[in-house]
Amino acid sequence: MAEDRPHVLTAARLWPPMMESLHGAFVVHERLHDTDPAAFERAAPRIRAIAASGESKVGRDLLARLPALELISVFGVGYDGIDVAAARERGVAVTHTPNVLNDEVADLAIGLMLAVARRIPQADRWVREGRWKSSGPMPLARKLSGARLGIVGLGRIGQAIAKRAEAFGMSIAYTARSRKADVPHPFFDTPQALAREVDFLVVITPGGAGTRKLIDARVLEALGPEGYLVNVARGSVVDEAALVEALQQRRIAGAGLDVFEDEPHVPEALCALDTVVLTPHVGSATWQTRRAMKDLAFGNLEAHFAGRPLLSPVPEMTR
Ligand code: 8YV
Repeated sequence: MAEDRPHVLTAARLWPPMMESLHGAFVVHERLHDTDPAAFERAAPRIRAIAASGESKVGRDLLARLPALELISVFGVGYDGIDVAAARERGVAVTHTPNVLNDEVADLAIGLMLAVARRIPQADRWVREGRWKSSGPMPLARKLSGARLGIVGLGRIGQAIAKRAEAFGMSIAYTARSRKADVPHPFFDTPQALAREVDFLVVITPGGAGTRKLIDARVLEALGPEGYLVNVARGSVVDEAALVEALQQRRIAGAGLDVFEDEPHVPEALCALDTVVLTPHVGSATWQTRRAMKDLAFGNLEAHFAGRPLLSPVPEMTR
């Protein structure tokens, strides 16, 4: 009977195939807490799980209104919007989708470096707008192969970026909360110290309070007028106002950005700049990877309600 199926609240507009799977197995309450407070009040006592995305906000207040909650399954590796400490206090498990998107996000980081350095979107426009015919060849670009790369956050995705960059003959250095054992690349204590030494600074650190505005005006200053910033992490990690200013004043050479402080709102000032390449948070957005993420996010819900061990709890839950 449908009523026996566990009740699940969605906390994001989830990928349609994920929604399909959810509807096949659970009673789904689609973002009721945001859209229909009265219906949410009625459903809340029965809700046993939340299906969220990497960008969902699930705070202490929402948790407090869900007395039967057992699990939050995040469709995404990042879970900075989830109050994991509050969930833990309540005995609510949190899962995410690590590893399955490492290659995808690393591919995009390399793609953004190539796009911003070789000015691929601008080159495309050069052809489409007939400027090749009217003005001749494009102004020259910047070489990526052999350049110096700095990675901010050498976790699973950071290491996948390093592996790819090696094939481009890039020298690699990194900063992270701590020096990694078994990593041959030079370690710098701070993003500022790293930025001073590199041509491309790629940000791939978790979001949240610990990394808020980690890349600030001083880091950008250290990167310098020949340096490029690429962010495939979270918009919160970069001081966006400082970045716009640095780009406008040509204090850095350019930026490739997949994430922004207030998505989907991208500052007009960024869109107006010719030295940036902008993508709408598509780091993991391919059919292949989204399918794998769905299998894991949905698999965690299935495992939980079948009484099997969770497939991929967040690290705070496995301690
Ligand atoms: C997605 C992400 O944007 O995994 C993450 O942390 O940012 C992404 O892959 C998102 O979670 C999909 O809805």
